[in-house]
Amino acid sequence: MSRADLIQPSATMKISERARQLRREGKDVIDMGLGEPDFSTPPHIVEAACKALEEGKTTYAPAQGIPELREAIAEKVRNENGIPANPENVIVTAGAKYAIYEAMQAIIEPGDEVILLEPAWVSYEACVLLAGGKPVFVKHDETFKSAEIEEHITPKTKMVVVNSPNNPIGVVYPKEFLKKVADLASDHGFYVMADEVYEKIIFDGTHHSIASFDGMFERTITINAFSKTYAMTGWRLGYAVAEEEVIKRMRKIQSHSISSPTTFVQYAGIAALKGDQSFVERMVSEFRRRRDVLVKGLDDLGIEYAPPDGAFYVFMNTGMDSDEFSQRFLEEYYVAVTPGSGFGRSYGTWVRLSYATSVESIREMLERLEKFLERMA
Ligand SMILES: Cc1ncc(COP(=O)(O)O)c(C=O)c1O
Repeated sequence: MSRADLIQPSATMKISERARQLRREGKDVIDMGLGEPDFSTPPHIVEAACKALEEGKTTYAPAQGIPELREAIAEKVRNENGIPANPENVIVTAGAKYAIYEAMQAIIEPGDEVILLEPAWVSYEACVLLAGGKPVFVKHDETFKSAEIEEHITPKTKMVVVNSPNNPIGVVYPKEFLKKVADLASDHGFYVMADEVYEKIIFDGTHHSIASFDGMFERTITINAFSKTYAMTGWRLGYAVAEEEVIKRMRKIQSHSISSPTTFVQYAGIAALKGDQSFVERMVSEFRRRRDVLVKGLDDLGIEYAPPDGAFYVFMNTGMDSDEFSQRFLEEYYVAVTPGSGFGRSYGTWVRLSYATSVESIREMLERLEKFLERMA
């Protein structure tokens, strides 16, 4: 069997494609399926890329990323995240997704188990399978803030993936849970992959980087990106921070696959990290406003949802099969959402709403949802 036969196409992309098709047919589609900020990249970042292009930064770059950007990333994670990294601990990648893929290829051996907290972002399972590993899904408890991962650790456990703030549930894990994961990693000798791509998009709670905990730097692969923080999804720029041995293995894979992330895009990354950060504040306060409108509407409809502390998602329980709900909500009410079935097996009645859309669209979606639920009752 081909390795590609082990994985399914991304559930989020399938819905978006259908939503786009309906829109082309002239339907008034509200897209709450998308996982990307609906903001433009700040002008100073765009200008830095243009300048790099004009200056001829159009040739191959070092496989691990240009030194100035790796230096800027190391400085950022030292100052903001308490991670004791130097540029040798940093690899620049084509988005966070490729950092995750490469890190799994570098670390996972055939048969190794990787614990994923369910519901889990769609691509973790695929990356584990493509590396020959075995995904082990562990359900969150009913608070969505913790999970009994200790019950699922075996001698084959190689890694636990923790994503905070979380996609699709929007939760920011409390420090006690992250500490528990770190202590288990130290006791049992496995890696933690800390996916921190939403670290700046937090409304309630505080972000903690597991790699900053005592003794965890060597055991943690921290994943981050420019995509969500700076509205740069299409630029494909992310990075991983880890011990040098892991980074060296990732660099080998990168040198034989994509060679390096796009050269002039890396200069934009420097401008993003070193430039004015007020865009991020404005974006986060707009997301907070939308979250509040959405949550109030769901409360009025009596719908159950996970605590939306951060990122830009609400994970809600529809009370019916999530595939059927998503299909009918799109085909009959022209609202695109992502079915929970795409994020694991235990949340078959839940769907993810992305509020990377206007307050007006959120209000309109709530009205359509009310009508849909009335008809179902
Ligand atoms: C949790 C999580 N990790 C990683 C990614 C991938 O980010 P990038 O676009 O930088 O590859 C996403 C994007 O949706 C995400 O939600």
